[in-house]
Amino acid sequence: MFLKLLVMLFMSLCAVRSQRSTQDVFMMEYFQRRILEMEERLISCNQDLQSMNQRMYDMSTEMRGQVRSVNVLKSEIQGFVDSIATRVDRVERDVEYLHTKLPDTSSVEISDSLLDQQVNEAQSKRKAVVIQGKECSTRFSGIKSQKILKKAGDVVGSWLKDPTVDSSKIYFFSGSRNNTLLQFGSLKSFTDSNSTTKPKAIQLPRPWKGTGHAVYDGFVYYHNADTRNEVLKVSLVNRTVADRMLLPTAGHIPTYGLAPHTFLDFAVDEMGLWVIHADPDFGGNLVITKLDSKSLSVEHTWDTTCKSHNAEGAFIVCGTMYVVYNSHSGGRSSIQCLFDIHDSVWTEELPVIYFPKRYSSHSSMHYHPQDKQIYAWDDGYQTTYQLDVKKKLQVT
Ligand SMILES: *[C@@H]1O[C@H](CO)[C@@H](O)[C@H](O)[C@H]1NC(C)=O
Ligand SMILES: *[C@@H]1O[C@H](CO)[C@@H](O)[C@H](O)[C@H]1NC(C)=O
Ligand SMILES: *[C@@H]1O[C@H](CO)[C@@H](O)[C@H](O)[C@H]1NC(C)=O
Repeated sequence: MFLKLLVMLFMSLCAVRSQRSTQDVFMMEYFQRRILEMEERLISCNQDLQSMNQRMYDMSTEMRGQVRSVNVLKSEIQGFVDSIATRVDRVERDVEYLHTKLPDTSSVEISDSLLDQQVNEAQSKRKAVVIQGKECSTRFSGIKSQKILKKAGDVVGSWLKDPTVDSSKIYFFSGSRNNTLLQFGSLKSFTDSNSTTKPKAIQLPRPWKGTGHAVYDGFVYYHNADTRNEVLKVSLVNRTVADRMLLPTAGHIPTYGLAPHTFLDFAVDEMGLWVIHADPDFGGNLVITKLDSKSLSVEHTWDTTCKSHNAEGAFIVCGTMYVVYNSHSGGRSSIQCLFDIHDSVWTEELPVIYFPKRYSSHSSMHYHPQDKQIYAWDDGYQTTYQLDVKKKLQVT
């Protein structure tokens, strides 16, 4: 009996213990689960943190990128402001130019109405220049072809066709100093060596210097050889000096580094008569001056960004100067700089344009507005270049 009791007690004890131990196991499992859960949460929390970090990093890179692009924008705007400043500068100079066109009011008494009239005249004159420019709707875009017509005269010289509408006369200036030019009736009589019509020799009152002469409206314009910077206007009819003037800042250095004889280079385009020279006080850059062919007075002067160093010539088309460069050894001539007085054509728009390779170098280049041709003197060969012209983009 006792034993039975003992056995029962033991059994019940065992049961309690086993009950206890099953409870412990449950607890253990429970805690383990909780710990696992917590671990999982910790891991996901870590992952969240990591992705947050990544996002922060991404954001900061993006910010940095944006700051960089803002900086680029800033410098672009700065460049824009600078270019506006240069334009304003130019406008200011134009205004100054208009002022200089007016007589000095401090020393002369002028009635207000007369002053008004003069202001209006000056303004309409300025407008006339601009309007003329707008009518000029073509721009040079390349060299279409080359034609070698003749070999005559000196190694250096100049020949050109009369730009007067319906005139076919050819003028021939051999050498860099002489006072006799030849006038041919036409290109045919110039090139035909068997031609029975002899050219007319025209004796100028003073010899010329260089190769930059121009013929315009029945007059020849050239650099008086015995002066530093005197421009002569001589009638082709009676060979008398019709007018003369001194071109300011000109005559100190040759216009083009590779054409040492020429100090004043005249040009004729759709807008009229021009002269190009190099100014040593302006870094040897080229300066273009619009001349009033009637009164031989300066209409306006532009300091250009084109260098005279290594230049061999230039021509003007519709108020845009194109400068031709080469090397001392006489390589291939190419146009590498332009200057447009209307600011509508930029050097950046123009690819470097090469001339077809021929002899060594050009001592003169004269554009003919109707023919759209350049009459060039290439090492003693009289050559023409036909230009490709495009319609100018209208800037409003
Ligand atoms: C001047 O030009 C004429 C005609 O082209 C020529 O006969 C003469 O030899 C030249 N004079 C000089 C000094 O070059
Ligand atoms: C010029 O004349 C010569 C002989 O009179 C002749 O041989 C030559 O072919 C002619 N040249 C031209 C371009 O007519
Ligand atoms: C010479 O001719 C021009 C026109 O070409 C004329 O204006 C000028 O008065 C003439 N001079 C003389 C002295 O005849």
